Amino acid sequence: MRVKTLVENTSLSEHFENEHGLSLYLETEKHTVLFDSGCGSLFVENAQKLGVDLSKVEYFILSHSHLDHGGGIPEFLKANRTAQLYIHERAFDGFFAELPNGDYWSIGIDASLRDHPRVIGTQDLLVIDEELELFSDVTGQEFPSTANHHLLMKEGGTYRQDTFAHEQNLIINESGHTVLIAGCAHRGIVNIVNRFREMKGRWPDVVIGGFHLYNSQKRKSEDPELVHQIGAFLKQTGAVYFTGHCTGLEATRLLIEQLGPQVRALSSGLVFDTKNL
Ligand SMILES: [Fe+2]
Ligand SMILES: [Fe+2]
Repeated sequence: MRVKTLVENTSLSEHFENEHGLSLYLETEKHTVLFDSGCGSLFVENAQKLGVDLSKVEYFILSHSHLDHGGGIPEFLKANRTAQLYIHERAFDGFFAELPNGDYWSIGIDASLRDHPRVIGTQDLLVIDEELELFSDVTGQEFPSTANHHLLMKEGGTYRQDTFAHEQNLIINESGHTVLIAGCAHRGIVNIVNRFREMKGRWPDVVIGGFHLYNSQKRKSEDPELVHQIGAFLKQTGAVYFTGHCTGLEATRLLIEQLGPQVRALSSGLVFDTKNL
């Protein structure tokens, strides 16, 4: 599978802009997929630079209802007239970040998208075909991230800690070569990878995504000891990990230090083939 990184927090070179967000264009054996859109129109700009024809994308998959992943959906709908958009049915509830001054800032996607004719509301598990599969039923509680504490959902007029029921992960299976893609891994990359193993009876070959190890409210990386413990788990799976975005620069650096070439950094403009690492 070929991956073209359209949006990430850093850039491969000055030729590509970056923003706090994630958007990945995937060319699999059978399909073209856009996984997340970043915040706005940057993914369109970088898609042009990387020779990606967004009008030909067959599936749009939203990892979870945060604007740094789904803010560009209206731009995608303009650029593409045929793709189906797979969005978790809980993604249209209200989501907020608590700011350091105690205010609540809405960070969820536009709820009116629920009624768009090309949007398909997903639940725990969806097998699109033999190559693409979505899952969101991650119940493991290992290594919870403190970077989730200020992320809230609104229920019955009150704000409470987000349970991330709206977070889904993508499995790509190309003739036995399996890739797991997570957006922010709010439910924990260890728990997500463990759920993959429960489902498939093996570890993935490649994992791509943010691991949510940077607390944007406190502007601080997770405790290095927690990062190290997560790194030890990731190492024993034998998978290759591409990360960045909400992992944060500090935790990404620590993981690369610990795991060597088993961990690689994502950047806007980065293109790679998961079968050729
Ligand atoms: Fe994110
Ligand atoms: Fe997020």
